[in-house]
Amino acid sequence: MSRLIASLTLAAGLLTSASVSAVEISISCSALGKEYEICKQGVDAWASKTGNTVKIVSTPNSATERLALYQQLLAAGAGDVDVFQIDVVWTGILADHLQDLTSKGQGVVGEHLPAMVETSRVNGKLMAMPWFADAGLLYYRKDLLDKYKRPVPQTWSDLTETARMIQEGERKEGKGDFWGYVWQGRAYEGLTTVALEWIASYNGGTIVDEKGEVTVENPKAVEALKTAAGWVGAITPEGVLNYTEEEARGVFQAGNAAFMRNWPYAWALAQGADSSIKDKVGIAPLPKGGADGRHAGTLGGQLLAVSKYSKNADAATDLVMYLTGQEEQKRRAVQGSFNPTIVSLYGDADIAKANPFIGDLADVFANAVARPATVTGQNYNKVSTEFFNAVHQVLSKRAEPAQALNRLDRDLKRIKRSGWQ
Ligand code: GLC
Repeated sequence: MSRLIASLTLAAGLLTSASVSAVEISISCSALGKEYEICKQGVDAWASKTGNTVKIVSTPNSATERLALYQQLLAAGAGDVDVFQIDVVWTGILADHLQDLTSKGQGVVGEHLPAMVETSRVNGKLMAMPWFADAGLLYYRKDLLDKYKRPVPQTWSDLTETARMIQEGERKEGKGDFWGYVWQGRAYEGLTTVALEWIASYNGGTIVDEKGEVTVENPKAVEALKTAAGWVGAITPEGVLNYTEEEARGVFQAGNAAFMRNWPYAWALAQGADSSIKDKVGIAPLPKGGADGRHAGTLGGQLLAVSKYSKNADAATDLVMYLTGQEEQKRRAVQGSFNPTIVSLYGDADIAKANPFIGDLADVFANAVARPATVTGQNYNKVSTEFFNAVHQVLSKRAEPAQALNRLDRDLKRIKRSGWQ
């Protein structure tokens, strides 16, 4: 009898292991700074825990190029990528190609930042899981503010003045390629986030308001764009017109700029052992557009979604739940300064120690300005593309701010004519 039970047990065991045979999952990860390496460590940990294997598909650094690549893959119904790292503004655009994660995620998604959960839902369905949160920040050189006896700038005119002063001083001391302020000025999604910050900081709205009205043609927005255009060639290199996040970080981290606009990920790299500016950097809210303005950082961040065409959707979903879980979010925050989306991690001492700015700038993250992605739905990328192209024309002095915003208003209203969704 006991031999019978033993052989039945063995057979059942064989059956189970055969039915959960290991699979290969492929995931697209961004590769900004050390993002690829940190993603790889996370997926490797899941692979050894589950016995599955994971292949990483690397993607272009520019968010706009990455979206185009995803759209191409998904339009073909290709199952080559199971898990996509998607931007907070793409959920509506890609939703038709994604698995509904509502039943898998509903038990845990309540632990995440509400603003990030909102970016993960489309028509009430959870189409992705929040992975990390971004907000635009002002990086400054503490040592240079001390040297020139200047405070951290509170308004854009303070920043302009201080940046000019430091730039002149450093150049006189022989640093011919030193600049005041670097940021992302290429015609891509990053410029939308940056220019939205300028406009919102002058109380000029968010391009399209929450009701879906186009609001971008207004005097505050004109003033904001005029200010920014004035920096190019003065305190900002002309080359900024082709900068994404990494080009701006390259200049700042080499010690060649006083200020930089970037996301949290740049902190861990600036503080890296091989960084020439280690311990010389501070982070502050981006300046206000004048005394009546506000400190405005655009809400960014990334989510993980499962392709509807995945042949291993269960394992892919399990990987998503692991990567967006507590342990992994903590590891990514400590090693890569990726802001967690799980609220309780904001009280974690190791995270706070590695990233003092996360606690100091709680307001910046709490009041981050959202792009009009939810309200414009499937049309968001068109709206953003019209916006960043108009701004790029102003920055490259091919159009005056008022003229560019007038044309943009007309173009956005044309896109809206048939309704946003
Ligand atoms: C970051 C943000 C994302 C934003 C992009 C722009 O990746 O997380 O939300 O769209 O930068 O370059």
